[in-house]
Amino acid sequence: MGVMRQLAVLLTVVVVITTFTTRSEGALPTNILEKVLMVNKKGPFLGLVVPNSFEMSPLLQSSKFVRSKRLPCLDFGGRRFRFGRVEKEKVIIVMTGLSMLNAGISTQLLLTLFDVKGVVHFGVAGNANPDLQIGDVTIPKYWAHTGLWNWQRFGDGPNAELSFESSGDYTRTIGHLNFSDFDINKNDKNFGNSLNSVWYQPEEVFPVSGVPEVRERAFWVSVDHHYFALSEKLEGMKLTRCINSTTCLKRIPVVKRVEGGCSANVFVDNAEYSQFLRSKFNVTPIDMESAAVALICLQQQVPFIAVRALSDLAGGGSSKSNEASVFGSLAAQNAVDAVTQFISLLA
Ligand SMILES: *[C@@H]1O[C@H](CO)[C@@H](O)[C@H](O)[C@H]1NC(C)=O
Ligand SMILES: *[C@@H]1O[C@H](CO)[C@@H](O)[C@H](O)[C@H]1NC(C)=O
Repeated sequence: MGVMRQLAVLLTVVVVITTFTTRSEGALPTNILEKVLMVNKKGPFLGLVVPNSFEMSPLLQSSKFVRSKRLPCLDFGGRRFRFGRVEKEKVIIVMTGLSMLNAGISTQLLLTLFDVKGVVHFGVAGNANPDLQIGDVTIPKYWAHTGLWNWQRFGDGPNAELSFESSGDYTRTIGHLNFSDFDINKNDKNFGNSLNSVWYQPEEVFPVSGVPEVRERAFWVSVDHHYFALSEKLEGMKLTRCINSTTCLKRIPVVKRVEGGCSANVFVDNAEYSQFLRSKFNVTPIDMESAAVALICLQQQVPFIAVRALSDLAGGGSSKSNEASVFGSLAAQNAVDAVTQFISLLA
């Protein structure tokens, strides 16, 4: 090799090292990257995604969760990724924080950083299904984000095209809510409102297998078929009925697989709206995160399932208090019990 050639090789090596070093000290610092690589050597993992600490605590306190001794957790992007095992399954637990944006960000970070073979999302939810009660654990087959709307202008009826409908941005195929249907003095001509209707919209999704920037659409997102089939074995499992020696649910809670669940950036504590969601979309759990986790898993093509225990009646039931305050912790415990049971079925 000539001297010039050797110099050129050396220069290339220097440039490559400099570029790599600069990059790894950017958004993903070298010390984090090293730990991520170390963790991934032990993968693949099952990702456990949970909204809030009161929903996560029963899992962290469960004897079924064994923390990793070498590296119990890694903090990145304002999130804490906890490593360990549930039964024979290696898991990474991440708490998202409230609502769709936090759930989406945390799930995307989990799937971007770590070698994750599947995601189990769990927590509590409002209940729109009169056949079920607080404490029951639901596993829907489909999830929808019901918070993406086109709010129609006043005066336009059901046959009027929506703004940007012709360009393919919005659609009238999914359905709408007309605010005047909820007027209390519906039959009095002097009453009414000018809110007209909101039309539910599918999400734009960009699957990893698709063409970047070419949108696809998703309203109902299916959970993983294998996970859903497996979850049938949870129906009939034993769940907790009482919070103490005197306060118990009317009957022993059950695990039930249901058709649909929905999520939006809305805490639904309103009977009319939860009944509307049930009649329109046949949903049982109503929450603020599951559909976001589902949409990320759909796009990243990672198997997904959500387990949500019913903690209140989404505005139905007693008008004095939301039942979540009394039975919320029991519901959170039941969700965790169902999740750990599900994980043992996976192994
Ligand atoms: C909503 O209700 C108003 C008042 O009854 C009616 O004029 C309008 O056509 C309705 N819109 C839709 C989309 O059904
Ligand atoms: C059981 O819990 C309920 C609701 O929190 C409470 O009102 C009641 O005092 C508790 N009973 C006992 C025996 O701790």
